[in-house]
Amino acid sequence: MKQILMTGVGSYLPETILTNNDLSQFVDTNDSWIKQRTGIESRRKAKPEELTSDLAVRAAEKALHSAGLAANDIDCIIVATTTPDCTFPATATIVQNKLGAFNAFAFDVQAVCAGFVYALSVANGLMSSGQGKNTLVIGAETFTKLLDWSDRSTCVLFGDGAGAVVLQAEESEDGYGIIANTLHSDGRYKDILYVDGGVSSTGSIGHVRMQGRDVFKHAVEKLAAAMDEVLSIAELTADDIDWLVPHQANVRIINAMQKKLNLADEKVIKTVSTHANTSAASIPLALAAGVEAGKIKPGHLLALEAIGGGLSWGACLVRFGRPG
Ligand code: COA
Repeated sequence: MKQILMTGVGSYLPETILTNNDLSQFVDTNDSWIKQRTGIESRRKAKPEELTSDLAVRAAEKALHSAGLAANDIDCIIVATTTPDCTFPATATIVQNKLGAFNAFAFDVQAVCAGFVYALSVANGLMSSGQGKNTLVIGAETFTKLLDWSDRSTCVLFGDGAGAVVLQAEESEDGYGIIANTLHSDGRYKDILYVDGGVSSTGSIGHVRMQGRDVFKHAVEKLAAAMDEVLSIAELTADDIDWLVPHQANVRIINAMQKKLNLADEKVIKTVSTHANTSAASIPLALAAGVEAGKIKPGHLLALEAIGGGLSWGACLVRFGRPG
C-alpha cells in the first residue's frame, strides 16, 4: 500500500509589516485590545502589485528545494485560496506557469480558512487512487486585499502569506504520511462569516463580514469534535500528538484546543502573533516555521485543524517526513 508522505515544506511572507499601532493610526483600535482578544501583534501585507500566485511560487520553490525535487517532477498542483489572482483561470495554473511545472495538472480549492486541510484531503484521495505521484499543496492568500479597512472588527485580524508542502506517493512503512482526515461543512452558518460581494451577486469583490463571537463559539466546539474524530479514525490518542499545528486565527481558540487535548506549550506551534490570520496559508506557514525552528522533525505526528467561512472545517493527522 502506498503512503502519501509529506516530504517538503516552504513558506513566504511579504516584506511589509503592519503592527497593531500602525492600524491604530487609521482605525479606532489599540494594541492592547488586539493583543488581549486575539494574540495578534503584527501581520504582513502584500504590495498592490504582489499577487497571491507570487507568494505561492516563493513558498512552492522552497518546498520543492526541501523535498529535493525540481518543478518538472511535480504532476499535480493544488492551491487553496480565497484571494485568487483573477476569477479565472485557477491560481494554481498561474503558479504552474511561473514555476515551469508543465507536467502537472493544476486547480484551486476554495474552503476559505479550512482550505489547506481540504486541499490535503483532496490530494490524499487523488494520490491514493494513482493520480499524482508528486503533488504540491499550497495555501496562499493576499487576504488584506479583501478587507474593509474602516471595519475594526475584521481589519485587525488578517494578514498575507503563503505556505506549501510536497506530498509524495511511495511504498513506505505504515503509519507515515497522511494517516487520517475529516472534512465538514454547514452552510446554515453562511451569514456569520462571508464576503459581501462576488461575480454573480454584486459584480464586485466585496469585503469580509463577520460576527466574531458566533464564529469563536463554533470554532472551539467544531474543531474539538473534528480532532476527536481523526484520532478515533487513526486509533490514536491526544498523547500520541507531537505537534498541534492549528489554523492561526486567534490565540484563545488555539489555547482552548491545546487545553482540550491536554498538550504542553512545547507541543503547539503558534505563529498568530506575527502572522495574524492568513486564512488557507496559516497552517503551512506554521508548519514551515516549526520545521525551520528545528521543532518538527521526521517521524513526528502532526495534528492539523482549521475552520472558516461556510462554515467549513476539518482536521488531519500526518506523520511528517520519511521513515528512517
Ligand atoms: N479594537 C477595539 N475594540 C474593538 C475592536 C477593535 N479592533 N473590534 C471590536 N471592538 C469592540 C466592539 O465594538 C465591542 O465594543 P462594545 O462592547 O462597546 O460593543 C467590544 O470590542 C467587544 O466586541 P466583541 O466582538 O464582543 O469582542 P470579542 O471578545 O468577541 O472579540 C474577536 C472579537 C473577533 C477577536 C473574537 O470574537 C474572535 O476572534 N472571533 C473568532 C474570529 C475568527 O477566528 N474568525 C476567523 C475564523 S477563520
